[in-house]
Amino acid sequence: MPQQFKALLVEQPEKKVFTRSIVTRNVAELPEGELLVKVHYSSLNFKDALSSVGNPGVTRNFPHTPGIDAAGEVVSCSDGTFQPGEQVIVTSYDLGMETDGGFGQMIRVPSNWALKLPAGLSLKESMMLGTAGLTAALSVQELVDNGVTPDAGPILVTGATGGVGSLAVAILAKAGYQVTAVTGKLEESDYLQGLGADRVIARETLLTGNERPMLKTTWAGVVDCVGGEMLAAAIKSTRNWGVVTCCGLVGSPDLPINVFPFILRGVRLIGIDSAECPAAPRVKVWQKLATDWKLNRLEAMVEEVTLAGLEEKIQAMLKGGLRRRALVNLQKS
Ligand SMILES: NC(=O)c1ccc[n+]([C@@H]2O[C@H](COP(=O)([O-])OP(=O)(O)OC[C@H]3O[C@@H](n4cnc5c(N)ncnc54)[C@H](OP(=O)(O)O)[C@@H]3O)[C@@H](O)[C@H]2O)c1
Repeated sequence: MPQQFKALLVEQPEKKVFTRSIVTRNVAELPEGELLVKVHYSSLNFKDALSSVGNPGVTRNFPHTPGIDAAGEVVSCSDGTFQPGEQVIVTSYDLGMETDGGFGQMIRVPSNWALKLPAGLSLKESMMLGTAGLTAALSVQELVDNGVTPDAGPILVTGATGGVGSLAVAILAKAGYQVTAVTGKLEESDYLQGLGADRVIARETLLTGNERPMLKTTWAGVVDCVGGEMLAAAIKSTRNWGVVTCCGLVGSPDLPINVFPFILRGVRLIGIDSAECPAAPRVKVWQKLATDWKLNRLEAMVEEVTLAGLEEKIQAMLKGGLRRRALVNLQKS
């Protein structure tokens, strides 16, 4: 069993100063847990970018290895839930937040944080999806479970070029929905249409008239990744009995809106929390991602980097300028 491994380590040499470097760590330093996993792939999510720069909303204790996603091979499992060599996906709960995460070649976690890699997905594909794919799939599943059928009308996706947004566009298109992608990067329209968006609109278009309490009914459903004014405008323009899911706050954590869309149009707003999502819906959507919702353009949606290539991607993500999801190959230097 390897005793050492490479990892990205975020350190706090002084108050409000955070540094990042690639170091050799000892397996013995990893937290307690039944399951030791050799990580093959991870991916970069917005939470990782925040953890990497010391955002206390994600991580308070340093030194720390971020990475809320990991997929790899079981090295050992003390409670027998998994066998050595089995391939697993570990996402959510505290991984990468206060628990050393997938930006290291080894993780040790409670065994109930892992699920067996579903048949039909490779470790690499699972991390091309990662928490972003899980979150997008949970959002689409809420539309399905709440009666929004593909013939109900257009579905709006905000933050469409982002990790969750782009995967939501692709999953919705795969599931037969008509998708309108809203983006701050209209130059990425061809990319979004390639993923399956029927229409691409600018953020300003969605926000037109947003000072009013209600807007013209347009969307049968919404997958929002942005929050703030964009989520408010999306809710105000959702059709009667439409469903809006909300998972992110890149725009703002605020929701400047009144109750009219809810009480006059029956619009339903559903929160998505992939971190504490119970096992049953989590397993269900991973199964779907491996079968009915399996995406054939995943390669085009990611850029593979090594640990050394992460810094540039973290900076781009924090500026809202990341062009493709970063897939992290932990076994390549
Ligand atoms: N609740 C959960 O379980 C869960 C899970 C995963 C992620 N999240 C959250 O979901 C959000 C998206 O995550 P992600 O990984 O997809 O991030 P991401 O890859 O950085 O994508 C965010 C996208 O939002 C748009 N955007 C950025 N800044 C904006 C602003 N000021 N106003 C409006 N749009 C803006 C950009 O897309 P365009 O340029 O195309 O508009 C950007 O690409 C984050 O807040 C993240 O924390 C939540």
